[in-house]
Amino acid sequence: MARYEINGGRPLTGTVTISGAKNAAVAILPAALLVSGRCRIENVPDISDVRILLNILEGMGAKVELPEPEVVEIDCSDVQRTEPDAELVRQMRASYYLMGALLGRFGKAHVALPGGCNFASRPIDQHIKGFLGLGAQVDETEEYVALEPGEEGLRGNRISLDMASVGATVNIMLAATLIPGQTIIENAAKEPHIVDLANFLNTMGARVSGAGTDTVKIKGVNSLRGGTYAIIPDQIEAGTYLAAVTATGGNVLVRNVIPKHLDCITTKLQEMGAKVVCYDDAVRIIRSEPLRRTTVKTHPYPGFPTDMQAQVCVCMAMANGVSLLTESVYETRFFGYCEELESMGANIKINGKTATVTGVEQLYGATVFAHDLRAGAALVIAGLAAEGTTYVENIHFIERGYENLVEKLTALGADIRRVEDET
Ligand code: EPU
Repeated sequence: MARYEINGGRPLTGTVTISGAKNAAVAILPAALLVSGRCRIENVPDISDVRILLNILEGMGAKVELPEPEVVEIDCSDVQRTEPDAELVRQMRASYYLMGALLGRFGKAHVALPGGCNFASRPIDQHIKGFLGLGAQVDETEEYVALEPGEEGLRGNRISLDMASVGATVNIMLAATLIPGQTIIENAAKEPHIVDLANFLNTMGARVSGAGTDTVKIKGVNSLRGGTYAIIPDQIEAGTYLAAVTATGGNVLVRNVIPKHLDCITTKLQEMGAKVVCYDDAVRIIRSEPLRRTTVKTHPYPGFPTDMQAQVCVCMAMANGVSLLTESVYETRFFGYCEELESMGANIKINGKTATVTGVEQLYGATVFAHDLRAGAALVIAGLAAEGTTYVENIHFIERGYENLVEKLTALGADIRRVEDET
């Protein structure tokens, strides 16, 4: 087992370059299953979720090459298997995108139910509703989902989601791309990675319109051709560095970002006392004044992201006054990390969907446990801002989604090391 050892209390200064978006990469790589030919995908983050996904695709017969850092060349023309390796599938959440991609490509799929971050109950009923709407017959057990064409075959349809689910929107887009007829997704998710997936599919010859609004239209085409595509920068990785500087103080240029994607985050950090300057593809953040309280409620994009809830909570924990943090995407997401922050001296009271965070002057180093990816990132931020030494355990969660976290933070002046257990 490995852990991070952090000696906190140093402001962050310098420049950090943001990697490609995890949640776009984990949708776009399965989308390559729909393509007859070779896809060159650039700006792919080197994180464990991507490595697992590439292993799954290779196991199904995809040819995968990594010709240079952050570039994946993938050719799925020879894929035959419609049942990806169950053990690998259970290691990550987004492996459920194989369902939509395989349904679109082969008209059938047999995919184990996914694992990943279980910070809340994460049903997939809206994905299933989408597959049924496209004419699939669905066999869902506690272990797997099996899909095949229903009696009338697969065809485009109007599908109205009960909630704007990112995963269901992606899965329906993947399935519908090669299914005859027009599919209209109503109440679609609008997150930047939905737009990125649409742009990837369209680059390869698909006919997807409306991505980024709440109505996405997909006109089924016969085939997709290969091509080159670069994944967008990671909104949440960028937000995590912005929150880290807000917590520790300092002055950092965050490069390779789309500033518009960060508006919902920087607005709140500015309210808390950070200064933010936006450039074309970079954002500078400076925090020298004491932190002020604020109120944050998470929402689907373009609202404040649930994936930034834990990181902003750390800033609140050290702000003057009482902050309110409300989660409205998942029924709760405070599980685990708030208790860990309290062991570092934070004062947090949770009442249902709202955490009341009373700022303290100082957090103190402790041994803390990551329970999921973003909660883990928040504990790293807390360790950077705390007085003394923090050990963050369970870092495999963090490594699922943050490329070169230790290297990037070290370059900003942090004192952080990855320590392996001696065995
Ligand atoms: N929901 C349902 N039924 C469904 C699908 C979703 O009830 O069939 C509910 C969920 O329980 C939740 C809400 O709808 O309350 C939104 O869930 P959504 O489907 O949008 O989330 P997701 O697709 O499972 C993606 C990201 C998450 C991120 C959420 C919300 C990926 C691979 N994952 O999850 O990212 O928190 O959207 O923005 O894109 C992370 O990166 O750490 C992460 C967890």
